[in-house]
Amino acid sequence: MPATIIDGLAVAKTIRQEIAAEVAAIKEQHGLVPGLATILVGEDPASQSYVAAKNKTAHTLGIHSEQMTLPATTSEEELLRLVEQCNRNPAIHGILVQLPLPRHINEAKVLSAIDPAKDVDGFHPVNAGKMMLGQHCFLPCTPNGILELLQRTGVETSGAEVVVVGRSNIVGKPIANLMLQKRPGGNATVTICHTRTRDMAAHTRRADILIVAAGVARMIKADHIKPGAVVIDVGINRVGQSATGKAVLAGDVDFDSMLGKAGAITPVPGGVGPMTITMLMGNTLQAAKQAAGLL
Ligand code: GUN
Repeated sequence: MPATIIDGLAVAKTIRQEIAAEVAAIKEQHGLVPGLATILVGEDPASQSYVAAKNKTAHTLGIHSEQMTLPATTSEEELLRLVEQCNRNPAIHGILVQLPLPRHINEAKVLSAIDPAKDVDGFHPVNAGKMMLGQHCFLPCTPNGILELLQRTGVETSGAEVVVVGRSNIVGKPIANLMLQKRPGGNATVTICHTRTRDMAAHTRRADILIVAAGVARMIKADHIKPGAVVIDVGINRVGQSATGKAVLAGDVDFDSMLGKAGAITPVPGGVGPMTITMLMGNTLQAAKQAAGLL
């Protein structure tokens, strides 16, 4: 049987409708408009397109968004000053600093400067720590999007062998942690593979659910999985350009080769990507409600 294609865009649209309805309701009942600041430093084309998509989606859902674009030469002090301004701005409930930052800027320092109550990416050490302890906090958007996608497509995680490829702070470490937790959508047995893992395929072939966030185009092939596995592809790699100049994207998974073997698979684009943006909108709504004492 061919693999089921998990339609992240369709799931994301459903959740976006729920968020838009709630945004409209709090505006009407409380005069509250959630506000998101996105900060982009430099001109990386992939980052530019992600930030543009985040602002466009915010606008569509009735969320106020302010895009702040700074040159690659911006100093760490200037960026910290902007973050501080956003921290103090009552119209801004969520702050997103797009990563990666230019190398001369200390990423950890900038992320730590964001008010944890406005940290809609969930990257501040306070939120990352709370997440690890299973406490209420802003969950990082891509891992949270993967959890939602699995839950809403009826994938059982309890007792499942989950293998994560990649150990980044943005995806690998948090998704492994969340899938481990003792709650619905968690309770999995989790293995994390990375660049120093010996015989990665021996691990990935055990996976009931394989989550790949390695940043290497099409590195996971059909012989890396067991028949019927659920494959979640987090990679967005630019592998060329179309005749009209649009970026051609590929995931970290060799999608075509998986179709005859996987049980279900997320496509790129249209899988995890739309879920990430949607979770950011959900976090911004949550931040606004918390700031207004509605939660
Ligand atoms: N770069 C890649 N993914 C993300 C994300 O989820 N948030 C931010 N801020 N930067 C990213």
